[in-house]
Amino acid sequence: MSCDNLAEGIEELEPSELGTKEYWEKSYQLELNNFSDHGDVGEVWFGEEAGMRMISWLVKNPDLVAPTDSILDSGTGNGMLCVDMAREGFSNITGVDYCQEAIDLADKVAKESGVEVKFEVGNILHMDSAALKAKYKVVTDKGTFDAISLGGSAKEDKETYLRNTFNLLEESGIFLITSCNWTKDELIKQFEEYFHPHHVIPTPVFSFGGKTGNMVSSVVFKKRKS
Ligand SMILES: C[S@@+](CC[C@H](N)C(=O)[O-])C[C@H]1O[C@@H](n2cnc3c(N)ncnc32)[C@H](O)[C@@H]1O
Repeated sequence: MSCDNLAEGIEELEPSELGTKEYWEKSYQLELNNFSDHGDVGEVWFGEEAGMRMISWLVKNPDLVAPTDSILDSGTGNGMLCVDMAREGFSNITGVDYCQEAIDLADKVAKESGVEVKFEVGNILHMDSAALKAKYKVVTDKGTFDAISLGGSAKEDKETYLRNTFNLLEESGIFLITSCNWTKDELIKQFEEYFHPHHVIPTPVFSFGGKTGNMVSSVVFKKRKS
């Protein structure tokens, strides 16, 4: 698939520092220091409810996802989504992030929480770690496609991200994503070559100036046949 197909009708976002590795390294170093000083796990992106909505969907669909199925959390940050999935009984979870600082923090948070999760440094655009050579039943993403969408080469990187996520999934695997930068329709449009929408998880709606919309979008996709 060419990048042109992916971007058709989609306006790229203005690049921002949130699309750079340096930004994430600095913020997780700070969060690592805060965690050591007073046990603060740091930013929970889009609020705790966003993660709980994703987990609740997994829990309520045992016909599609069993507690022992392999789950990869892509761009795991402080690893809280993994920790909360483990607390809900999922037992085969791996979190990857391209920041060593994030993985150090996630390791500490999981250890402190007394749950079993594997964390590994890896860049989802480069598939450069052992965890990124395996196959998974589920890939979760909370804010990572968003961060990639804010990079200087977002158009190409989004395409690489989607292709790599497709390759990471087993046949009939599930890609569960929460985004604040893209509406559900924009996600569906950009993902359509690799994934088809299975379910849109309801998220809070805002009304302002006569317009209504969702603050975040959460969509369950199924991998298309290879
Ligand atoms: C908005 S944060 C979300 C973190 C976490 N998922 C959460 O919900 O708290 C985006 C994360 O994506 C990670 N990230 C961005 N690009 C990445 C890449 N190419 N490979 C792996 N991780 C990446 C960043 O380091 C950061 O942890």
